[in-house]
Amino acid sequence: MINANRNILFTATVLAICVILFVHVFLFPLYAVNPNHETLKTFMDFEKSLCSSNYIKQKKVWRKQQCPRYGVVTTMQGGRLGNQMWEYASVWAVARRTGLEPYIPRCIRIKLDQVFDSLTVPTFEEIAHCPVDMSRFVKSLDAWNYTYQSIVLPRYSVQPEIVLTWVQDIIQEFTFKTKLINKSQTILRLVAKNNINQVFVGVHVRRTDYVGYLWRKYSVLPANVSFYYAAMKYYEEKYQNVTFIVVSDDPAWCIKKFNNKNNVFITSKKVPNPPSLDLAILAACNHSIIDYGTFGVWGAILAGGETIFYNISHHSTVRLGQILPNWHTLA
Ligand SMILES: *[C@@H]1O[C@H](CO)[C@@H](O)[C@H](O)[C@H]1NC(C)=O
Ligand SMILES: *[C@@H]1O[C@H](CO)[C@@H](O)[C@H](O)[C@H]1NC(C)=O
Ligand SMILES: *[C@@H]1O[C@H](CO)[C@@H](O)[C@H](O)[C@H]1NC(C)=O
Ligand SMILES: *[C@@H]1O[C@H](CO)[C@@H](O)[C@H](O)[C@H]1NC(C)=O
Ligand SMILES: *[C@@H]1O[C@H](CO)[C@@H](O)[C@H](O)[C@H]1NC(C)=O
Ligand SMILES: *[C@@H]1O[C@H](CO)[C@@H](O)[C@H](O)[C@H]1NC(C)=O
Repeated sequence: MINANRNILFTATVLAICVILFVHVFLFPLYAVNPNHETLKTFMDFEKSLCSSNYIKQKKVWRKQQCPRYGVVTTMQGGRLGNQMWEYASVWAVARRTGLEPYIPRCIRIKLDQVFDSLTVPTFEEIAHCPVDMSRFVKSLDAWNYTYQSIVLPRYSVQPEIVLTWVQDIIQEFTFKTKLINKSQTILRLVAKNNINQVFVGVHVRRTDYVGYLWRKYSVLPANVSFYYAAMKYYEEKYQNVTFIVVSDDPAWCIKKFNNKNNVFITSKKVPNPPSLDLAILAACNHSIIDYGTFGVWGAILAGGETIFYNISHHSTVRLGQILPNWHTLA
């Protein structure tokens, strides 16, 4: 009697295990193939996938804008201030060119809002609740040919040909916060000892990690001190009272190389300035000398004066030099 019960129990257990295994092995995969609501993504999920850093958690209150009828244009986040300015500007400009609605990931917008006062491209917060159709995305303007398609630009994208079509407008878009303008003007006035006939030339000296990048990507050495001296000489011959404002990620190198020039002022000598202030200082200058790198490039674009740049074949700065009439190298 007891044995018979045991046998029944055993058989039932084995049967139960078989049924569970059957369901798991043969039936669950079928469920997984069918799309369910969890695989439908919103723009909020999509935005998160674009951000590489400082992603801020979704606020509970959404604005619930109408969902986009046509495609949108946006970008992935990469790099520091200069790169993210290009990413923002590229979205802004590609939207103008195509008529698509521009949206910027909040991780980029939050960073730029600390520096600029009148950015106009909205974030995904506006359409966070809307479904996103990833099959409609292409990765460049060249691949786009249809208003229902969306464009997601890759990180680090630099698109001077489109952005600089509206150079005065992008300068307007990147209007510095009043606090930064005041600080940079105060610094320039102090340096010039209130001499009003001063011409300020912003100099950007990019070194540290860029030295290795130049070698890996272009097989070239960084600009040596002869480049900066020759460019300074050009402005000294052109204007009577010139002051050079040097901004660098390696101020120690600059102190060593420029210490015999009494018209050179190096920012961040003792305490490093925030990058936003250094950029505002470059932008407040009348003319520019830049070597390479997006930070110096933006400083020169926003200064809007004559710009001398370092010639590296195939570097994006050379492309800018072909577009902007007051940009040139030293022959
Ligand atoms: C859109 O562009 C792709 C190339 O990116 C091309 O293969 C396709 O034929 C184009 N479609 C139309 C409708 O022009
Ligand atoms: C900037 O300077 C102006 C005049 O010098 C002053 O009125 C204004 O309050 C300052 N703004 C900020 C944010 O520092
Ligand atoms: C140059 O600066 C000096 C003072 O540093 C001033 O006396 C002179 O007038 C300035 N020259 C011009 C052309 O602005
Ligand atoms: C700087 O580099 C140039 C080549 O780009 C070279 O002709 C020059 O001698 C170098 N100057 C110094 C001081 O090393
Ligand atoms: C040169 O820059 C200074 C500082 O921003 C500015 O006050 C001055 O008006 C500029 N000069 C010219 C000729 O634009
Ligand atoms: C840069 O240098 C290359 C060769 O070294 C030259 O052909 C080209 O014209 C230069 N570009 C500019 C903008 O000076």
